[in-house]
Formats: sequence, structure tokens, C-alpha cells
Amino acid sequence: MDKVRIFDTTLRDGEQSPGASLSVDEKLVIAHQLAKLKVDIIEAGFPIASQGDFEAVSLVAARVRGPVICGLARALPKDIERAAEALKAAERRRIHVFLATSKIHMEKKLKKSEAEVLEGAAAGVALARRFTDDVEFSPEDASRTEPEFLCRVVEAAIEAGAGTINIPDTVGYAMPDEFGERIRMLLARVPAFDRAVLSVHCHNDLGLAVANSLAAVQAGARQVECTINGLGERAGNASLEEVVMGLRVRQQHFGAGTGIASQEIWNTSRLVANLTGIEVQRNKAIVGLNAFSHEAGIHQHGVISDRETYEIMRPEDVGWMGHTLVIGKHSGVHAVKEVLKTRGYALQAEALREVTRRVKEVADREKQIEEEDIVAIARDVMSDLSSDEQSITLEELSVMTGSRITPCAVVKLKVGGKESVCTSIGVGPVDAAARALRTAVDPDLRLVEYGLKAITGGTNALAHASIRFEDTAGRQFVGDAVGEDVIVTSVAAMVKGANRAVNARRREQSAGAQSAAQAGGGND
Ligand code: KIV
Ligand code: ZN
Repeated sequence: MDKVRIFDTTLRDGEQSPGASLSVDEKLVIAHQLAKLKVDIIEAGFPIASQGDFEAVSLVAARVRGPVICGLARALPKDIERAAEALKAAERRRIHVFLATSKIHMEKKLKKSEAEVLEGAAAGVALARRFTDDVEFSPEDASRTEPEFLCRVVEAAIEAGAGTINIPDTVGYAMPDEFGERIRMLLARVPAFDRAVLSVHCHNDLGLAVANSLAAVQAGARQVECTINGLGERAGNASLEEVVMGLRVRQQHFGAGTGIASQEIWNTSRLVANLTGIEVQRNKAIVGLNAFSHEAGIHQHGVISDRETYEIMRPEDVGWMGHTLVIGKHSGVHAVKEVLKTRGYALQAEALREVTRRVKEVADREKQIEEEDIVAIARDVMSDLSSDEQSITLEELSVMTGSRITPCAVVKLKVGGKESVCTSIGVGPVDAAARALRTAVDPDLRLVEYGLKAITGGTNALAHASIRFEDTAGRQFVGDAVGEDVIVTSVAAMVKGANRAVNARRREQSAGAQSAAQAGGGND
């Protein structure tokens, strides 16, 4: 059986999903879970892209053991050096260099000739090899690249020292038969592939990312790049769980398999959904809530007499838990810890105590609470205890609303240690509170998204509020919170988002001051 390596890019391409942004601590939690899932490579970020990405890649490199840790870089010295710096503490590190090779990208985006791109690719790989023996090269938009030129670039990258060549279908344009054919063509026409692994990276714009990835494996690719829940730029990337289970269920067909611990799939999927706030659609293959439910009577009858009548894999093979009712007010830290463990969360003692305290508080009123409630509370506690500095705290909130009155809110905050009280009217109480909060923090911060959902149960359910702020530079900051009162919870989510905006601004100012000081030092 040939091994197909699984290269997980949830923390890089996945985080480019519109709406998914993760803190450094959240990325570390996911990376630990990916190691448990036994992915071969974790692409932890794009270190030159932002200070946050650099920190996340550095932290994952320093703390996560097992998989190779990878950082993305354009074929530019400053990108490659930054990636190398971030990956310094990794046990095994990979630098992933990319450069576009399709006519449209070379002409319109890079404004470079074929000769320049060829030279840039080889130079980028050669520079990356000075920092690590494990270098991957991607000709971006490979599926729309002229075949002859693609062969030449790939050959040059392998000659320069790339051990993995990744063929991206960057815009999700390929059809499975032609993509498979392209992989066969490359393997046949580039003899240097006897020294390099051929990888694929497919986007899902036409819903074909998994089909294209599997067609590529059939044609000889031995690494697949994918993400948990299929997250990724635009319509996403190939979903890891679908690729892995496709290869597992149809192992004989492919003559190849992965080293993935498939029983960790469900936990990983839930963890990523919870931390990114991007829910999995109910009928999604493998990890959707309906994936193993049988509704029609005829199906139920079949499954009862022999599950293989309608099931091609067992729910336990992917660690599927379904819904389980769990905990009451007499449950203690151990029960809460157990529940969280099965969902991929390993909390420190302090956080665990706080989660248990809040779980009991809710259980006191509601008798029993469900697994989803516990996970939501844990997430909330984790984000409260995360390293994000809380320079804004909510001291008091009161709202007045009803029929035939204009809703209004009074918000008392501490901003950088100073007390600030603001009032506002609004369309509803949440809107009024949001307006008051923005007046106190930053009137230019726009609330561009607001979501509220009951986690489980009815009108006494815990509420999960999520918000997204945008500043004048177009940067977005998310915040979410869990609680029993929808208005207080919504404002708590806004306070978290506002803290992120303030912290980002502060980090930028201190990076600016640092580089000014360095520039000053250089002139001495
Ligand atoms: O889609 C793409 O082409 C990419 C590359 C950076 C591999 O994400
Ligand atoms: Zn991509």
C-alpha cells in the first residue's frame, strides 16, 4: 500500500476563509489536535503576512511535536527569511515557496516574463534550502499553466532542491479527468520526479476539490493538501475528512492510504468549527450531524438487520459522537474534563475550574446541560483567559426596551484604566448598546456582522453571540461570547472584538516604533 501524505493547511489557507480568523492561542490548540489526528505536515501560517501569523507559526513550531511544521513564503528573500525565522524551534521544518506560473498571473499580477519566473522559482527554492532540507515548491495556478512551461518550472524547482512539488488548482477550475491527466503528464515528462513527491492542492469553486484530489492520487500524487471541514479561500479547499475517508473506504481502489488516526476526525472537526465560528452544514459528508442518521423507515429497517445495507463506514471509525446528553449540577471537574477531552479540548487546571463553575451555575437553573453547552462555555473561558490583553472591560450595562418606546442603552466601560460612560438609542437594545460601546472605544469601528444563536434547548438556552468589527483600514476583528442573557452576551462579544482591534493597533504602533528605532540605529 502506498502512503499518501496529508498536508493540513487549516491554519493557513483555512484561516483565509471569509469569516474565519483565529487567535494565536486558538491556532496552537488546533495544531495540537492536528498532531493527535496524525497529519504528516501542518502548514501553520504565512509568517510574512502579519505579526500574528509569525507568532502563530513560531509557537506551533516550538510546541507541537510529531508532524513537520511548515510556513508559507513567496519566492522572495524577505518572505523566505521570515518563514525560516518563525520555524527555527521546530523539530522538523518545511518552507513552502510559491510563485504563479499561469499566463494571466504572470502578465497581470507579477508582470514578469517566463524566464524571470523560472529564475525566481529556482532562486527561491535554493535560498529556502539554506535554512532546511525540506522545501516545497508550488507553481500557483498550475492547472491553468501552459503544460510545457509547467514542466520546465517544476524541473527547475526540483533541480534547485525542492523535495515536494505541489500542483495547485488555485481557482478550482479543473475537472477530475483533466486534472488527473495533468498529474500523469507531469510524472511522465519530468524525470526529476524520481527525487520529489508530487502533491496537489485543490480549491472547491465548482465543488470538485475532493474529486480532483482523489483523481490526482489515482494518477500518482502522493501528498494531498487539505483542510478540516473544507475551510479555505473562497469556497474552500479539499476537505481532509472526505479525502482521508475516501482513501480509507476505497483503499483497494486506490492502492494507497494515509496514516491518519481517523477516530480523531469528529473531534477535530468540532474543534475547528467551534474556534472559527464556521459551522458544518448538517448534511456534510463524514462530519455533518446527519452523516450517520437514517431517517427513512426503509433505511432504518435495513440498518437494523445489517448496518452495511446503508452504511459504508462505521460512525466510530471517524469518532462520531452524535448527540449525547451529559451533565447535571452534581457533576464535577472530572466529568467536565472528560466531556471536553472527547471534543478535543485539553484545558489547564485554572480554565477547567472556571468552566466547571459556570457549568454548575447553568445546571443549577436548567437541571441538565448538553455537551454543546459545555463546549461553548469552555470556548468562552478560553478566549477570556487567552493572552489577548483586555484593555477594555465592561463595568455596567443597562438597557431599556419595550413596545412604543425608543430602545436605549447605557454602557460603562474601563478603557485603558479610565472609566467611560456612554449612552445611545438604537433600533433595538443590542443596536443601542453597540452604538454606545463604539462611541466609547472608537466611533470608526463598524459593526459589519452580528449573529446570535441558541446553543441548545428553548428560551432558557445558552446564547452564543458573535460579532465582526471593521476598521477604516478594512481590517476585521471578531469577538464572541456565551451566556444566558442575549443582550449582555452580545455586548460581551463586542467588548472582545473591540479589545482585538485595540490590541492590533497597539502591536502595529510598537512594530512601527521598533523598525523606526532600528532604522535610526543603522544610520549611526
Ligand atoms: O491555492 C493556492 O494556489 C495556494 C498556494 C499558495 C499553494 O494556496
Ligand atoms: Zn490555496
